[in-house]
Amino acid sequence: MNEPTLIRYDYKKRTLAEMEQRAADAVIAMMRRRSVREFSQQPVPRILIENAIRVAGSAPSSANLQPWTFVAISSKSFKQKIRVAAEETLKQITKKFSPQYCERLASVGGTVDKSAVEEAPWLIAVFAKQPPAEHLHGARTYVPESVGIATGFLVAALHATGLATLVDRPEPRAFLNEMCGRPADERPYLMVMAGYPVEDCLVPVIARKPLEEIAVFVE
Ligand SMILES: Cc1cc2nc3c(=O)[nH]c(=O)nc-3n(C[C@H](O)[C@H](O)[C@H](O)COP(=O)(O)O)c2cc1C
Repeated sequence: MNEPTLIRYDYKKRTLAEMEQRAADAVIAMMRRRSVREFSQQPVPRILIENAIRVAGSAPSSANLQPWTFVAISSKSFKQKIRVAAEETLKQITKKFSPQYCERLASVGGTVDKSAVEEAPWLIAVFAKQPPAEHLHGARTYVPESVGIATGFLVAALHATGLATLVDRPEPRAFLNEMCGRPADERPYLMVMAGYPVEDCLVPVIARKPLEEIAVFVE
């Protein structure tokens, strides 16, 4: 059995008062995040996206497999091709949605119009990589869980940077693999659009479930 090499954890201990303030600040900062569906054409420097992806790549992952690839696209013609293909696929998919689900989607601002895919300065396609079977030895690798956490880190980092985001399903999947030049063992997981919101950008009024509804404490 291989023993890990250990180093001292770079932990910064804070006073309780400091921690309470930081926790309150984090709530305010993160509660301001909203999905934006109208992006400004103002370019976003690549370094900002690189740094957000660095943060995403620091996410915890099962057995530290880091089973993700982030393909960051700013090419207008590339994004346009993905938009056209995504809209076509979505038209087919939405035919299968129940009227209740369509209503729910519409009420939170979801649309079949994928203009954000093309208009956001950056489209980040997140791919989940399945490890080779010979490495698994029958073990579960929790790839979707790990990539979900990394995508959360990515969205939080982009928001902390001062950019707006929109998360979307990655459609059409085979096309995304081909367009992004990713191998078959990488599955399109999500797409994250990032940029500045348009001036006076509007977002739908939505309610967040209160703490009592989403948290259970066992003390
Ligand atoms: C997996 C996933 C898929 C989503 N798909 C769409 C989509 O297809 N179209 C859209 O307009 N918004 C989409 N969204 C954004 C959600 O509608 C949005 O996060 C939700 O309404 C909450 O709003 P908020 O992000 O402003 O808090 C998606 C979000 C996630 C996490």
